[in-house]
Amino acid sequence: MNFERLIIQGGYALEGQVKLNGAKNSALVLMAASVLGKQDIIVLENVPRLADIEVMADVLRSLGAKVHFTDKNTLEIDPRNIDKYSAPYELVTKMRASFFVLGPLLARMGRAEVALPGGCAIGSRPVDIHLKGLEAMGAQIEIEHGNVIAKVDKLVGAEIYLNFPSVGATENIMMAACLAEGTTRIYNVAREPEIEDLANFLIKMGAKITGAGSDIITIEGVESLRQPVHYSVMSDRIEAGTFMIGAAMTRGTLRLEHAPVASLDSLIAKMREANVLIDIIDDHTLEVRGRHPILATHVRTLPHPGFPTDMQAQFAAMMAIADGTSSITETVFENRFMYADEMQRMGANIRVEGKTAIISGVPRLSGAPVQGTDLRAAAALVLTGLVAEGETSVSNLFYLDRGYECFEQRLASLGARICRVSVKTEKQEAVSLA
Ligand code: EPZ
Repeated sequence: MNFERLIIQGGYALEGQVKLNGAKNSALVLMAASVLGKQDIIVLENVPRLADIEVMADVLRSLGAKVHFTDKNTLEIDPRNIDKYSAPYELVTKMRASFFVLGPLLARMGRAEVALPGGCAIGSRPVDIHLKGLEAMGAQIEIEHGNVIAKVDKLVGAEIYLNFPSVGATENIMMAACLAEGTTRIYNVAREPEIEDLANFLIKMGAKITGAGSDIITIEGVESLRQPVHYSVMSDRIEAGTFMIGAAMTRGTLRLEHAPVASLDSLIAKMREANVLIDIIDDHTLEVRGRHPILATHVRTLPHPGFPTDMQAQFAAMMAIADGTSSITETVFENRFMYADEMQRMGANIRVEGKTAIISGVPRLSGAPVQGTDLRAAAALVLTGLVAEGETSVSNLFYLDRGYECFEQRLASLGARICRVSVKTEKQEAVSLA
């Protein structure tokens, strides 16, 4: 069995320019939203080439859509022949965002069968808020053998209050409401920038949506969505934040292009508190300059516009080498500090107490073999390896490849000493020696 690892020699600053890719968490839901379209081809530009995108493409194909890349980052979807309402179990459990086809399928077909996505490394990830919203619009929903089975003659607009501003629930309900009869008003919705990207995309398809980005979204249902759509996915704010932290930790100077500057306010504020120099050049360009010392600070993750939970592990990596003691409180997911044990192997001083990690900065970290425990934890361990003395090897790269396109190549082009190797396991060697 071959395992891939990233081998990193620490101590090299990130210098230069990086052009950001399209946002994974927008591209995935826009692909799901294409299920609503009945009449025309949908072209999505700036789609990142990631494992999760391939899984979502397979989900759409399993429903009857035609999906293919017309060039490196341009995806063409033909939803006209979608004739199935059941998303395959093995795909939904591989990638929980497949669950985002529930709302569109129900709205288009009057029926949808999608496996319950189940939990993952960072939490139990229930979908009760999704289901409650769809039931409010008239759907009959049962759970049978691990599948959500939803049926409705015609969805009807409703007043829906979300118990938590869930990103996925907001998206599933928004998409379903586009084809409901009458008006849907959703309160306490997620305000993440990806929600606005979805609303802009649906409006281009002919939907009538107002309020995206605020805490109340209003949707006037329409008969069908027919417009041909050519849409460019917003750039990835979490990829941007990951590179920004890398520049700060390695005391490099990095210029980010195609950056969604307006969606980075909370991260920029916290990085500036930590003594990182950040110049905003224009709406899509910023420059990050790391300097010594990095100052300890305190972070609490919150739904947007609060500090993003998807940046929590990366920020912890920076606090591991800060002057002083920091704290990071995770309020969105219940189990998102699994990277702490791995960082401790590199000499970090992190103590997790319930929802809060207390991080006492240390003057230096030492390279070690570590393993990713979820997507953003894997990225955080790579960043830690960039500053640790000696060699760090990061495994479980399938997590990393879900969310970062050509991550190591791009870091190497900025001056990092990093490469991907295939490592034969001892068992494999034993067999080959026999
Ligand atoms: C989206 O997940 C993102 N994924 C996550 O990014 C991101 O961390 C999360 O939003 C929060 O910003 C995609 O967009 C594909 P939630 P989602 O529903 O929609 C609870 C990454 O690293 N909840 O806002 O699943 C839930 O348990 C990934 O790119 C319910 O209780 O997040 C969690 O504690 C990781 N019931 C909290 O809400 C529900 O019905 C936030 O979940 C739904 C959610």
